[in-house]
Amino acid sequence: METVLSGIRSTGNLHLGNYFGAVRNFVKMQHEYNCYFFIADIHSLTTHPKPDNLHENIKKVLSEYLACGIDPDIATIYIQSDVPEIPQLYLLLNMNAYIGELERTTTFKEKVRKQPENVNAGLLTYPVLMCADIIIHNADKVPVGKDQEQNLEMARKFARRFNHIYGVEYFTLPEPFNFGSDLVKVPGLDGAGKMGKSEGNGIYLIDDPKVIRKKVMQAVTDAGPEKPNSIKPEPIQNLFYLMELVSEENTIRHFDDLYNNCTIRYGDLKKQLAEDIVKFTTPYRERILDIYNDDAYLRRVVSQGAEKARQSASKTLREVREIIGYRSF
Ligand code: TYM
Repeated sequence: METVLSGIRSTGNLHLGNYFGAVRNFVKMQHEYNCYFFIADIHSLTTHPKPDNLHENIKKVLSEYLACGIDPDIATIYIQSDVPEIPQLYLLLNMNAYIGELERTTTFKEKVRKQPENVNAGLLTYPVLMCADIIIHNADKVPVGKDQEQNLEMARKFARRFNHIYGVEYFTLPEPFNFGSDLVKVPGLDGAGKMGKSEGNGIYLIDDPKVIRKKVMQAVTDAGPEKPNSIKPEPIQNLFYLMELVSEENTIRHFDDLYNNCTIRYGDLKKQLAEDIVKFTTPYRERILDIYNDDAYLRRVVSQGAEKARQSASKTLREVREIIGYRSF
């Protein structure tokens, strides 16, 4: 059976981008594949969270993933820092990762531009840790959004390099995965770019209806089309894209027709979009709150997950050590 692995940073709540980019696919896959899901709480240290916030965020993300339908008795759900084999493999992989290629990674270059005051070594080697996350379970498929495509390409490169250096076919080369043909990029509401935690432009599964309505009504638009059947500029295209994710087909067609004959009123479109998002997120929000308040359940999920994840991870690390040449006396 093929292995699937999915991860999310513990730096805040789950937004629609996370959901449609990764979680939805993962939830569908858990019955057909050997599935691992983890919360990347080591990756999240690149932003220097306060200790109390770190724990709180891990708990939030865990509750949200469970509320989305990941079943801890079927999939293996764990917290990255509970599996010390992952940072060990990361350390070993770092010896074959070159500064030049790490510096050229788009996500790293972006961080250098956006936060020049905090360009730490963890950011530089972020793709190496991601590679360790994935290949520690020899994952075949990784459901991700478009924003992680390059990181996954790096993971393949490091896995291939390890195999080549030691003349083995040990690590599987992981494939990015989406149920549709292309990887998804859910846009934010600020007119350009992806929806993201660091971008502060997201609609969260936990947002209450009032917040969602306010955010959607503030989304960037323009003065409206001047000629029939014009191409939609990015901010408008983005609103239609969000509709495709949450609205009925005839609703989308209705607004598309209004756009094409230049009678669209963006206020109406936004109102409809907000209601459709509320309808979509409400059941999740209710479940998240129930799970979040059930400490005994969360404790059981975390310890069961850590045990299952360590079984697979320690086997890999043992074999990797042998391949590298660490022998017992
Ligand atoms: P993170 O926490 O930013 O996002 C988690 C998942 O959500 C997807 N995603 C999106 N998909 C579509 N549109 C968007 N706007 C959008 N925003 C986020 C991401 O592609 C991702 O699949 N580095 C990773 C976490 C990670 C990981 C891993 C993932 C660490 N190790 C190993 C997979 C495998 C990250 O920061 O994702």
